[in-house]
Amino acid sequence: MNGDVDKSGQRIRRMFGQIAGRYDLLNRTLSAGTDVYWRNRAVQQVPLQPGSRLLDVCTGTGDLALAFWQQGKGQVDVVGTDFTHEMLALACTKGSRAVQKATRSSGTESATRPLTFLEADTQHLPFEDSSFDAVTVAFGLRNCSDTSLALREMARVCKPGGQVMVLEFSMPQQKVLGGLYRFYFLRVLPRVGQLLARNPESAYSYLPESVGQFPSGKALAQQMEQCGLEQVRWTPLTLGIATIYHGICSGSPS
Ligand SMILES: C[S@@+](CC[C@H](N)C(=O)[O-])C[C@H]1O[C@@H](n2cnc3c(N)ncnc32)[C@H](O)[C@@H]1O
Repeated sequence: MNGDVDKSGQRIRRMFGQIAGRYDLLNRTLSAGTDVYWRNRAVQQVPLQPGSRLLDVCTGTGDLALAFWQQGKGQVDVVGTDFTHEMLALACTKGSRAVQKATRSSGTESATRPLTFLEADTQHLPFEDSSFDAVTVAFGLRNCSDTSLALREMARVCKPGGQVMVLEFSMPQQKVLGGLYRFYFLRVLPRVGQLLARNPESAYSYLPESVGQFPSGKALAQQMEQCGLEQVRWTPLTLGIATIYHGICSGSPS
């Protein structure tokens, strides 16, 4: 447990397993497509050299991993990990389609760096220290039962001087528009989401509950700094509905 919300691995896996088939559609519908814009902004915040290795944890159906791989034009090696089999299976299908398409247009498979998906718990990553140039997570850190453990693992597998990026929901502070959004997020979205997702685990009541309890802005930036990252800066997006955090791996957790 983290706060009052049940974030046990078993509950999280069951919940995402139940909604996996509708996850992408629900994301696009309930955010009116804004989630795509947020992931594109996240990709812009993490500049990568050709030949770099990037790990995207809690990758879900793989949209951020795929966006990095496509942005790298096949010159960046991308690995996506998640512990929900059903989500990862969809990521694998989307990944193979993207690789096939890129191979067809480049005419040679060897011209394309790999895009790989693996089943793994973010809190116990199966990689050696300093394996990646960048480690990212979108809307996943909040779901890990131990935020600091997940952040430390992300920092551990990142090379010193490498980049760690977190994209996560936050609550807008602006009075009028923020108030309208809070009404939508707390009252409308759980009902509409539940109606569309039709899952017994109430994923769309869990969403505002977990966001309400999760640190944002300076508080999350400070937590990142305690977990082996430095120069952490954050950029609120769309009135502060989501926030991008970016830090540099110091190579030694404080
Ligand atoms: C809200 S989805 C986000 C998926 C994707 N990153 C995106 O941007 O749409 C959260 C994902 O985190 C995964 N997750 C939660 N806790 C995890 C953990 N401890 N280890 C691995 N995956 C985890 C869930 O299985 C789920 O696929």
